[in-house]
Amino acid sequence: MGALDKLPVLLTRKLPASVMATLAASCEVEQSAGDGSMSRDELLSRVAGKHALVSMVTDTIDRAVIDAGTALRIIANVAVGYNNVDVAAARGRGIIVTNTPDVLTDATADFTLALILAVTRRLGEGERMVRRGEWKGWAFDQLLGMQLRGKQLGIVGFGRIGHAVADRASAFGMTIAHTSRSGGGMPLDRLLSTSDVVSLHVPLTPETRHLIGQPELARMKRSAYLINTTRGPVVDEAALAWALKSRLIAGAALDVYEREPEVHADLVALDNVVLAPHLGSATIETRTAMADLAVRNVVAVLGGKPPLTPVP
Ligand code: DGY
Repeated sequence: MGALDKLPVLLTRKLPASVMATLAASCEVEQSAGDGSMSRDELLSRVAGKHALVSMVTDTIDRAVIDAGTALRIIANVAVGYNNVDVAAARGRGIIVTNTPDVLTDATADFTLALILAVTRRLGEGERMVRRGEWKGWAFDQLLGMQLRGKQLGIVGFGRIGHAVADRASAFGMTIAHTSRSGGGMPLDRLLSTSDVVSLHVPLTPETRHLIGQPELARMKRSAYLINTTRGPVVDEAALAWALKSRLIAGAALDVYEREPEVHADLVALDNVVLAPHLGSATIETRTAMADLAVRNVVAVLGGKPPLTPVP
């Protein structure tokens, strides 16, 4: 691809300046006017004639968008998860779909540990108490939490992020159990009934939707915690609110929700759940690396080269 044959590319939102410069050097870039993401109507009308689409996890790239993108050759999703893209519809049209694995593993694993620590050490409850002006000073038995050393962390989905979480949790003295898609590790039922903390790291697929519902929550120890940093619909949120309310489990920490940005009202009202606004990969370094990888996929494919990270 040379300067004379710059191909049109649509970005559903602005990316860091360094990344935009890479793209603008070889492509004709069009993007959302504001700082936020593009509305669906704008996406549907502007994708026509574009050779590449750089999308966010919040964009629904379904058959209608793909059909509107008559000239599309690549959809580069700026996320490791790609449940927001109809990959089968894209493949049917010969469009390559790429994601951003690896570059967000550390950030997401770090954040998982932050959530584990926050919920087991009751950080949110303590912070709210201080802000409300209700803290009366140090007390021997105030907001006692659970120590991690010697406890079992059950990792559901032992891929890149699951492994990175295991490494970090081992440093805190936790023992690790895991399930995995390939069938290795511990059966889910046993992992749920024996773990002190259960952390979810499976991608969202039809098989993993509501993987954790009432029966699974009932199987967990009453003293256990559930952590979700993958995709909201992996957990049945209503069932989780019920389990937390009935103290069937001790607590939960969530970064993702079934209908983002909506959060189940019962969860918001509960003290034993930490609620984060989908921040797993949210560091400057990681978001820049994700955008950079997405853009390098676009430049490769439009330049006639294979994509760097096609979805499997
Ligand atoms: C991902 O990469 O799948 C994240 O959820 C987006 O930050």
